[in-house]
Amino acid sequence: MGLTYQTMEWLGTGLRLLDQRALPANLRYLEATTIDVLVDAINTLAVRGAPALGAIGAYGVVIAMDQGAQEGWDSERLEKEIDRVRDARPTAVNLAWGVDRVRPLMAQGRDAVLDEAHAVVREDEVANRAMGVRGADWLLARLGDRKLRLLTHCNTGTLATTGWGTALGVIRELAARDRIEVVYVDETRPLLQGARLTAWELFQDGIAHLVQSDGAATSTIMRGLVDAALIGADRVVANGDTANKIGSVGVALACADAGIPFLVVAPESSVDLDTAHGDDIQIEMRNGDEILNFAGQRTAPLESEGFNPAFDVTPARLVTAFVCESAVLEVSNGQTPGMKWGRES
Ligand code: MRU
Repeated sequence: MGLTYQTMEWLGTGLRLLDQRALPANLRYLEATTIDVLVDAINTLAVRGAPALGAIGAYGVVIAMDQGAQEGWDSERLEKEIDRVRDARPTAVNLAWGVDRVRPLMAQGRDAVLDEAHAVVREDEVANRAMGVRGADWLLARLGDRKLRLLTHCNTGTLATTGWGTALGVIRELAARDRIEVVYVDETRPLLQGARLTAWELFQDGIAHLVQSDGAATSTIMRGLVDAALIGADRVVANGDTANKIGSVGVALACADAGIPFLVVAPESSVDLDTAHGDDIQIEMRNGDEILNFAGQRTAPLESEGFNPAFDVTPARLVTAFVCESAVLEVSNGQTPGMKWGRES
């Protein structure tokens, strides 16, 4: 089944990253051994997806410590460079979470930090596998033990994690049980994580899929062509409001209207209980040129300006259930179960 690929690999002196900007045309890698290269890779989405960014944050601290030792940084400079990694993108809570998880270990030395970064990677894949099973079980129990027609937005697979995937992990688990009829893949404008990355991952796995424009999703759902939609999350806050790739809330609204399940599949590393409400989530605003151009060609008039929020917030009341590694939390009558992540089975 297809190629083997790894989103990231620690090489001893830095990270080897699968350069997602080049996919699917080219399978190429880049090496990040300095903070400048790592921050650029994060900003330009060479590496991306919330859980993957969690591991990148953790490894980023090791890279900063190694570079600092070579270049003789004082502690103030070291902390500043680590903060550059932590703040490189604001919406996915995992990036800051990964940095914050390993930072207290710096006093114990670089190898202690590195060991913890490796633990982040291992735990993420275990969490993904668990979410895959929980999500698949929940869908088949709710919708009947049959082949399903699913819809997903953005990329939540191996490329967005350290392995397997969140929403795509559920789809993979269903495919392993021969319970997929077709997956509608939203292309995910403007950077096409759906068309370029999700379709590529599904193709590698031999899973039937159709790539559609983002604008088609509402109609596909409302015409009754979809049994359930699944997305990942960049940040789930205390009341259950969920930030994810721009376009997600439209999918949720259509699912609510059609009366079909809308699932958010996300590990606890994407949960931010310190933020009360979705309105308080900082939404990353990206360069308008990503909207005004297509494949390097200007498509809008030169005089036009772009508006390019990279994420939106789906209110918890539109989510049918949250699938995390230790529980499926159903939202009933618009009420979240207090987001008791990890405390229910
Ligand atoms: O801008 P991106 O590509 O980093 O956005 C990624 C997403 O929105 C994903 O859906 C989210 O991070 C969940 S990944 C399991």
